[in-house]
Order: sequence, then structure tokens, then C-alpha cells
Amino acid sequence: MKDKKLIGPITQLLSMDQLPVKGAIKDSQLPILKHAGILLDGDKIVEIGDFEILRKKIDLQEVRRIDLSENYVALPGMIDCHTHICFAGSRAKDFALRNSGKSYLEIAESGGGIWDTVTQTRKMSGSELAKITASRADQLLENGITTIEVKSGYGLSVLEEIKMLTSIHQANRKTKADLIATCLAAHLLPKDFEGDETAYLDWMVQKLLPILYKEGLSKRVDIFIEKSAFSKEQALVYLKKAKEIGFQITVHADQFTSGGSEVAVKMQALSADHLEASSEEDLKRLAKSDTIGVALPGASIGLGCPFTPARKLLDMGGSLAIASDWNPGSAPMGDLLTQASILATFEKLSTTEVFAGITFRAAAALGLTNRGTIAAGQYADFILFPTSDYQEILYHQGNMKPAQVWKSGLKVFD
Ligand code: NIG
Ligand code: FE
Repeated sequence: MKDKKLIGPITQLLSMDQLPVKGAIKDSQLPILKHAGILLDGDKIVEIGDFEILRKKIDLQEVRRIDLSENYVALPGMIDCHTHICFAGSRAKDFALRNSGKSYLEIAESGGGIWDTVTQTRKMSGSELAKITASRADQLLENGITTIEVKSGYGLSVLEEIKMLTSIHQANRKTKADLIATCLAAHLLPKDFEGDETAYLDWMVQKLLPILYKEGLSKRVDIFIEKSAFSKEQALVYLKKAKEIGFQITVHADQFTSGGSEVAVKMQALSADHLEASSEEDLKRLAKSDTIGVALPGASIGLGCPFTPARKLLDMGGSLAIASDWNPGSAPMGDLLTQASILATFEKLSTTEVFAGITFRAAAALGLTNRGTIAAGQYADFILFPTSDYQEILYHQGNMKPAQVWKSGLKVFD
């Protein structure tokens, strides 16, 4: 089979290339290529441009033509840079409890919440976990998400965290999406650990992180900085040690109380995620830094809490990615495009800002430069929506699904 392919004509191609990683973006800045073609070689994009010019240029002995006969809008494959899709069980009862007046933190304090999922996840075998994670990843891939970050954090012991991260790697081999594993051993102090938060984090630094690094099970470390989890001071010590080993840093920051984003900036974390409770000062500090702010509208919708002040962060010059936070507790929906569209209506985001947040800015939140735009040299990850006008996509609030999903040069869904 020929490795080179020319795909087109595409009615509107939104390359998302050459746009700023930081700050507000107007829709007038959105580069739109009309009647475009994408030339691929293997898993990479070689060239994009006017379809007729590319068509005349190619040698049909070498290049397979994939002609499109309908109207399509092309976007880079979406990137969900914050999920917890490796879990067992359900927390439907937490959802009902919250809706009858209990808060997320009250449920956590009374033994439900994250600990409940830890108990269920520990009971599941690694291979079952891999299977369930891969099937959730396939669901996301079908919706156009070609790269998915997946956190551990429901194991909370050396062996159980290794089990989770190994399962995420097994799931990565089962799905055609790319899974990026993050260690979230610092999600909560496990109830069965004999010692305090500091002792637990020290234990993880000594016994878990070096193995993960050596075995290539994760290059990223996350921590939940919150009253019910870990303090700023504990986080600083832990993250410094993780960084010394060589890990990239990301933080669950300012979800219910301010504090985490300050640590994220201090640690030059790749991203600070949540930010629903960030103060003006937190946002200013974040906007000045290179740390990407990640809004998780799925958690706001799931908990009935305020949205991340995305507009403010962008207007202050900060960077904003948007992710689903798909998890069994606060964000069970798992639908990035729907959530990003809803965030746009409440936070008054331009279409370009939303698309940036789920493509190249999300790639930046993962420290990835080889995806997130449709441009020469990038992975051939792109999606085709069945419309001739890009504005239709968010307008349908997630109800318009991609007609075709291409991952690493292969059509994986149509
Ligand atoms: O990002 N905030 C902490 N962690 C997850 C929730 C995980 C859970 O409730 O199971 C979050 O919202
Ligand atoms: Fe999360």
C-alpha cells in the first residue's frame, strides 16, 4: 500500500497553525484554507495547500488520492489534556447526594468520593482496567479526540499505582488514540497508609517515582492541592523532588480553594488545571508565566460549581486549554466538545479560543510540539466535520460529531 496520500478537497481547513500560545484570539485571526488538500506520508503531514495545486503536483504512481465528495471542515485531532479514564465502578450515588445538598468535599470527608473509586479500582485486575480504559479512549477517539492524557490516582499505593500506569500503557496498545500517562499518586492521603501526608509523599518519592521513571511508565507527575488532599507546602517539597528525578509537572489547582496555581507557577509546571477558585492575583501570576491554565468545564457541570474564569485569564494574556476531566466523581460526562461549547457560552470565548484550547494549546499543556495543528511535519491527526462552515461546530454544542477521524495518517473512524 502507498504510504503517501492526498486528501481533499476540504471545504474549510482550520490549520490552527501560527496562532499565539498565549492570550486572547479573535475569530478574524483564524486561518481558513478553502478548497484545501492534505498531503500525508505515513503518519506525518507533508504539505497542506490548495487542493488543485497539490493535485497537479503529485505523482499518482506514488500518491494515493482520497477524494472527498461532501463538504467538510477539517480541524486538528482534538487533545484532551486532563482525564481520569482509568477507573472501576460508578459514583452515581455521589451525584445524587450532591444534588440533594451534600458538597463534593463533605462526601469525600465522609468516606465517599475519590476513596470509593480507589476501593473499586484496587479490586479490578490490571487487564480488566486496561480493557475499560481502552474502551473509554475509543469512545473519545470516535468523537475526534486523538490524544488523551490519562491519570493514575485511584491506586494510592506503590503497587496499585504501578498497576494503574501499566494498565494505561496496555490500553494505549489497544486503542488507536495516543494515551499519555500521568502519575497522580498524590490525589489523596489513602486511608490505609500508616502515616501523615508528608510521610506518604516521601514514601512515593522513594519507592514509586524512581521505578516509574526507570520503566518509562510515566514522565509526568500531578498533585491535588486542596484542603481534602495536600497542602501547598507539602506539594512544593514533593514536586521539587519529582522534578529532580526528571518528571514534568502538572497540578490540580484552585478547584475549591486558592493556592495550587501559585505552586504550579513556582514549579514552572506545564499546566495548572481547574482554577475555578483562582483569585485575581492567582490569575495575574498565571497569565505572566508559561504555565498553561486548563479549564475543566465538565467538573463545573458535574458539581454545579462556577466555571474557570477563562475569559479573564485570556484577557490578562494567559494561555487556556480546555479538557474534559472525565472521571467517575466530578465529571462523569466525558464529552470534550460539548463541554468546551458550553464553556464558550458562559465565558464568552471566541470559536478560535475554544479550538485553540482543545488543539495546540492542549498540546502545549502536555509539552507536545508534534501535534495540535494541521501543518507540515506534524502527526497526521485531523478530523472532518460534516459541514461547510466552521461556526456550525460549536453552535451544535457537541451534537455535531466528526464524520471522519484520522490518526497518524490512518482513517480510524467514518
Ligand atoms: O479533577 N479534583 C480531584 N480530582 C478529580 C476528581 C476525581 C474524582 O472525584 O474521582 C478532578 O475533579
Ligand atoms: Fe482531574
